[in-house]
Amino acid sequence: MSKCYYITTAIDYVNGEPHVGHAYEKVIADVIARGRRSLGSEVFFLTGLDEHGQKVQQAALAQGKSPQGYCDELSAGWKALAAKLELTINDFVRTTESRHKEVVQAILKKLNAAGHFYKAGYKGFYSTKEETFLTEKDRLPDGSFPASYGEVTELLEENYYFKLKDQQTWLIDYIEKHPEFIQPDNRRNEVLGFLKNNELEDLCITRPANRLNWGIPIPFDPEFVTYVWFDALVNYVSIPGAHGDTAVTGALQTRGAAGEVKELWPADVHVIGKDIVKFHAVYWPIMLKAIGLPQPKQILAHGWWQKDGEKLSKTTGNVVDPIAVINEWGLDAFRFYVVRELAIGPDGNWTDAGFESRYTSELANGLGNLVNRSLSMLKRYRNGIVPERSDELAADAAKAVAETRGHLEANELQAALVSIWSLVNRGNQYVEQTAPFKLAKDPAQAKRLDEVLYNLAETCRVLAVLLWPFLPGTTGKIYAQLGLSGEPNNFSKATWGGLTAGHTIGEPAPLFPRKDKPPKA
Ligand code: ME8
Ligand code: MG
Repeated sequence: MSKCYYITTAIDYVNGEPHVGHAYEKVIADVIARGRRSLGSEVFFLTGLDEHGQKVQQAALAQGKSPQGYCDELSAGWKALAAKLELTINDFVRTTESRHKEVVQAILKKLNAAGHFYKAGYKGFYSTKEETFLTEKDRLPDGSFPASYGEVTELLEENYYFKLKDQQTWLIDYIEKHPEFIQPDNRRNEVLGFLKNNELEDLCITRPANRLNWGIPIPFDPEFVTYVWFDALVNYVSIPGAHGDTAVTGALQTRGAAGEVKELWPADVHVIGKDIVKFHAVYWPIMLKAIGLPQPKQILAHGWWQKDGEKLSKTTGNVVDPIAVINEWGLDAFRFYVVRELAIGPDGNWTDAGFESRYTSELANGLGNLVNRSLSMLKRYRNGIVPERSDELAADAAKAVAETRGHLEANELQAALVSIWSLVNRGNQYVEQTAPFKLAKDPAQAKRLDEVLYNLAETCRVLAVLLWPFLPGTTGKIYAQLGLSGEPNNFSKATWGGLTAGHTIGEPAPLFPRKDKPPKA
């Protein structure tokens, strides 16, 4: 059995509000997952929920619910979002599941036995909102803590600590020797700068159970539960362990899976947001080394979305509800906008005008128009029967195919769409240049019209294959309208010449109906 391409996302706080930022992260991971499958890899795509911690406990209590019941209710909404986004996930982890908790406890036992932890008293400031201790360095010039930390309280308590002081040198060395480990480069440089200019403080990995009991019990001290970040990061290996991954079961002596064994670890890519790079690029590698597991191949940090130049915020009402957008415009329009608008790395700014503009110009007038007029003309002038092969656009297609393959292999999704649209635009330009509607009026041009119609139909077919990872619903429709069975989910089918003479296409229909604007009130 061969190793899967293993891709993960951050696991969302179960009590958060699902918004465009969460949906974006899951969509880019899904495009990468589908892209790799199309290129021939077996892929394992994992997402899920982070369900422990003080915030959840407090919120459940405030509503008079048990934390588990509260998580169960909220998890349904997140699973519905994953379904709405048509994520091709292979599993969905909830950190309150026993298959996860067992692995966290096995890791704690192993690291404790190996002498990585010590117990000590601590006095400091704690942000419940971000589940993190703050230091003097976090204070603003006026002495207060930034509002993003929410309410900050002073705590004096005993806890267990994970010794990090001796870990700095190898980690710097590792990051320097593996330029692809943290991407994009600006995030890598930030991490290196942080590690070179600060001494790492030991990581507090517990919370006293009398303050917080909504966590995984520490197996060697019942008075403590596990710090939520130590718990959450482990999801990336607990789920492989639950699927019998021998790397994980071997390192931890845990029991394997009941069903088919999957070889998953090390992850090929952890897709996360820019705010949690330190947890993934500093704490997680150190945890893995202590556990005796290899490092993930890449931590890929995306930027954050704003709307109309302002931070997303439920309280100010500055939100984009991905479900509402999908209900109004369709899933593929949502997927297209977020992937096309920004590369993985920089921040993005959602504007409704920008969304509508891309929908109209690139989807409706670009791709939609090309496919609709190409297939409608084939239907009208040739009864929907594909003429002899002609290779006039073969080189343009081959260029887009080669570029798209390279971009998919490098997780450059926006660049892939730019390459694919060069073929969309070439196709539309070709219609203008060859004017098949004029050729159709002249019987002497029948051969030429055959050539043009073949080139257009075949371009549509190649586009369907290239676009499948991004716009799976639309590309399925293009295949159906071409009269082809199955899904265009195999990149090798992007080779020119797939449509054969004599094949009958299906019924053309608009892919992106133009939206009539409601009258202004
Ligand atoms: O941090 N734009 O969960 P979370 C883009 N449970 N991405 C955004 C965003 C925005 N406006 N807001 C949030 C957590 N995100 C932890 C993760 S992983 C072991 C534990 C992204 O619900 C954010 O960067 O606060 C993160 O990657 C993800 O959404 C979940 O954020
Ligand atoms: Mg957050």
